[in-house]
Amino acid sequence: MEREKYYITTAIAYTSGKPHIGNTYEIVLADAIARYKRLRGFDVYFQTGTDEHGEKIELKAKEKGVTPKEFVDEVATEIKRIWDIMNTSYDRFVRTTDPIHEKQVQKIFKKMYDKGDIYLGKYEGLYCTPCESFFTESQLIDGKCPDCGREVHTASEEAYFFRLSKYQDRLVEYYNTHLDFIKPEARKNEMINNFIKPGLQDLCVSRTSFDWGIPVDFDPKHVIYVWVDALTNYITNIGYDVDNPSEEFKKYWPADLHLVGKDIIRFHTIYWPCFLMSLDLPLPKQVFGHPWLLFGNDKMSKSKGNIMYADDLVNYFGVDAVRYYVLHEIPYANDGTITYETLIERINSDLANVLGNLVNRTISMANKYFAGKVTNKKVTESVDKDFINAIKNLDTQIEDKMSRLEIGAALDEIFEVFRKSNKYIDDTTPWSLAKDEENKDRLETVLYNLLEGIRVGAVFLEPFLPDTSKEILRQLNISDTSLQYNENNSYSTITPSVLFARIDKEEKLKEIENK
Ligand code: MSP
Repeated sequence: MEREKYYITTAIAYTSGKPHIGNTYEIVLADAIARYKRLRGFDVYFQTGTDEHGEKIELKAKEKGVTPKEFVDEVATEIKRIWDIMNTSYDRFVRTTDPIHEKQVQKIFKKMYDKGDIYLGKYEGLYCTPCESFFTESQLIDGKCPDCGREVHTASEEAYFFRLSKYQDRLVEYYNTHLDFIKPEARKNEMINNFIKPGLQDLCVSRTSFDWGIPVDFDPKHVIYVWVDALTNYITNIGYDVDNPSEEFKKYWPADLHLVGKDIIRFHTIYWPCFLMSLDLPLPKQVFGHPWLLFGNDKMSKSKGNIMYADDLVNYFGVDAVRYYVLHEIPYANDGTITYETLIERINSDLANVLGNLVNRTISMANKYFAGKVTNKKVTESVDKDFINAIKNLDTQIEDKMSRLEIGAALDEIFEVFRKSNKYIDDTTPWSLAKDEENKDRLETVLYNLLEGIRVGAVFLEPFLPDTSKEILRQLNISDTSLQYNENNSYSTITPSVLFARIDKEEKLKEIENK
C-alpha cells in the first residue's frame, strides 16, 4: 500500500547572521513533527533552508568587504551546521541562490505578468531600509517602522505590483471553507481584522534600488522583491515548473504544513495563497504560526546582548536537553522564555530526576534481581491496572496532542507515564518483594511492567529526543519498537549508564560566565 505523504516546511532563515536559539527553535519543532509523522508511517518530505537575497544582505556584505554571494555562502553553511548540531532530519536544505530556484522564480514572475496579475507601477511610500518594507502612514507605530521600531523615510521607485486585491474574495472563501488553514485560531482573526477587512493593497514585488536579487528577465533593472522569491521556495525545490512540473511536485504539493513564526504568518496566509491562486495551484493545507522564544521577558537581540546560540547551549547541556527545553517550554499559542537557570532546573527535574532515575533504577533492579533477564510472569495486582492503562493510552493521547500541534503537551504525556512509573515503584516497593523468594514472580511482573513502560515511552520519545530514545532502547537491549504495551517481550538488560547527570546550578552558571 502506498504510504500517505506529508510535506512539512520551515520558514527559510535569512542569511543575515548566525541564527540564535529562537530561530533554531523552529527547525527543532518541525523536526519533532516530521519524525513523529515518520513514526506513524507517513512518507515525509521535510524541507528547510535559507533566504539569501535582499538589500540588507547586500549592505552587510559590503560592510564586511566581501561579495554578497561569499557572504551568504558563509552564513548558509553556519545555519546548516547548527541545524545539524540540533540533530534535525530535514530531507533537503534549500537556498534561494540555488540556480534551479532562481530560474523557476523568473518563470513564475513572467507567468504572473503574462496573466495580468503583475503590472508595472510606481511605488511611493514610507520605507524602512533594515526591513526592506514600505508602509502606509496608518501602519506605522508612533511614526516608526511597525516591525523593528526604526525610522522610516519617504521613497519612490518604479516597481512591479502583484494584484492581491483580485484574489481577496477567493482567499476569504478559502479561510471559511478550510477551518484548519490558519492555526492557532487567534492568528486567523488577526489576519481577517487587520489585513483583509481594511482591503488588501496590491503588493510591490520588484525593486530597482539594489542588485542582490533575482533579476526580472524581461526587465533586468528590476530584481524580484523578496516575498515572491522567498515563498516560492516551497514549490521550486520539489520540481515545480510553469510548463512541466515534476512527479515529485505532483506527489508532494500541496504542503501539509508550513511552520512559521508568528511575525511572518501574514505572508504565508495572505500573499502566498494569492500567488498560488495566480499560478492555478492548490493551496497549502495548514499554516501554523508558532509563538516565539524570548530571553527572560525580552526579545533576543544583538543590541541587548542577550543572545543565546544553539551550539553553545549544546556544548553546555547536550543536544537532547536543549531540544527538550525548547519543545516543552514554548506553549502552543504563547511565547516561551529561556534562561540558563530555568534550563538547568528543567534538566534536573524532568530529565535527570524523572526520566534518568527511572531508567537507571529499573534496569539496575532487573540486573540485580534477575541478572537482566525479565519476562512477564503475569502475577498481577490491582495497582497494575491503572499503570498499564496509562501505557496503553499513550498512543491515543499523543496522537490527540500532536494532531493539534501541541508538542509540549505531547511530551508531557510521555513524561506522565515516566512519573507514573516512578510512583509504581514506590507503590510496589520491589526491594521488599525481593526479600521473600515467594514473591519472585510478582517482582518479575513488576519489573516487566516497568520495562515495558520505559520501552513504550522511549519509542514515543524518538521524535523529540532521538539520541535519548536510542540510548534507552540500547540499555533495555530490546528490538521491539511497537507503540503498544506488549505482554510477551523478553528483556535482557545491560549495565545502565547515566542518561542525564544532575547539574550543579551555581557551578554551571560560573562555568558559563567564565567562557
Ligand atoms: N526569511 C524569512 C522567512 C521567509 S519564509 C518564505 C524570515 N527569516 S528569519 O530568519 O527572520 O526567521 C526565520 C524564522 O524564525 C521565522 O519563522 C521567525 O518567525 C522565526 N523566529 C525568529 N525569531 C524567533 C524567536 N525568538 N523565537 C521563535 N522563532 C523565531 O523571516
